[in-house]
Amino acid sequence: MVKAVLDSFRSQELTRTNRQPLSLLLKLSPYIDELALYDVVNTPGVATDLSHISTTAKVTGYLPKEEGGKAAFKDADIIVIPAGIPRKPGMTRDDLFNINAGIVKGLIEIAAEVAPKAFILVISNPVNSTVPIAAEVLKAKGVFDAQKLFGVTTLDIVRAETFVAEIAGKKTGSELTVPVVGGHSGETILPLFSKVDGVTIPDDKYDALVNRVQFGGDEVVKAKDGAGSATLSMAYAGFRFAEKVLKAVAGEKGLVEPSFVYLPGVPGGAEVAKATGVDFFSVPVELGPNGVEKAQNPLTGITDKEKTLLEAAISGLKGNIEKGISFVHNPP
Ligand code: LMR
Repeated sequence: MVKAVLDSFRSQELTRTNRQPLSLLLKLSPYIDELALYDVVNTPGVATDLSHISTTAKVTGYLPKEEGGKAAFKDADIIVIPAGIPRKPGMTRDDLFNINAGIVKGLIEIAAEVAPKAFILVISNPVNSTVPIAAEVLKAKGVFDAQKLFGVTTLDIVRAETFVAEIAGKKTGSELTVPVVGGHSGETILPLFSKVDGVTIPDDKYDALVNRVQFGGDEVVKAKDGAGSATLSMAYAGFRFAEKVLKAVAGEKGLVEPSFVYLPGVPGGAEVAKATGVDFFSVPVELGPNGVEKAQNPLTGITDKEKTLLEAAISGLKGNIEKGISFVHNPP
């Protein structure tokens, strides 16, 4: 039996978040037998609504009262964390740190206690810092398995696929695989267009395309004009990654998707850690029943332009990662 938990602490404005669409997509997955929703408000109503859909998953909704978090997380196989507040125009993802860091830490503590073997997928921003926070909390509790901790960067890949398809006149989907590596914020997002089979990005379009992938999140924040950040595309991306993990657990082979992982703890990761000098980096990971089976090194043979982007990505990532780690060791 696969129990999935969607935990969304502090989504006071539920319609402005990705929780409802993501919970709907997860309810449709044949790989989930039980879907537990956890939030500070509204989960019983959303759970009842979803429960009328005639797909396999049994849906339950929990609130913080009476240790609802522990009940929701208990023995989960996979925990998806989109918790926290979204950005408003003019904010960076790092501006969310002060609120979201503590929320993610608290949720990971619950997970460590009642679902220590769960796959944990962190969507909460700033991902570049919240994933290191999760790793440090799990390490302190003695239950860290790097192969099962993922920062979800799939929306960057989804955006890159869409934008490259527009330029190259290709169909999206299976026709195009665009590796986007590094982190999930501004210049730490590193699209590797040189690795897209059968596509050459014209020189005069290259910089704008890189910028659009790196700041795609800002494009949505601006367009929503104060009403939050990406919810629907993020729900799709979160679901796409979660479903790949679930399929791998069910035994399907050949599943690869970039994710922000702790390199020293995953097979193949040491090579990328050595090349970048950072311990957390998004790389294409080969998924299996135990999580990351192999981290691929996407940096061999990259172009000079990509090398310049890589340097900027590494420099941004160093600060973000350090901020997350010190939050756990020296709480404010
Ligand atoms: C995104 O990439 O759309 C999300 O990380 C949300 C955001 O703040 O941009």
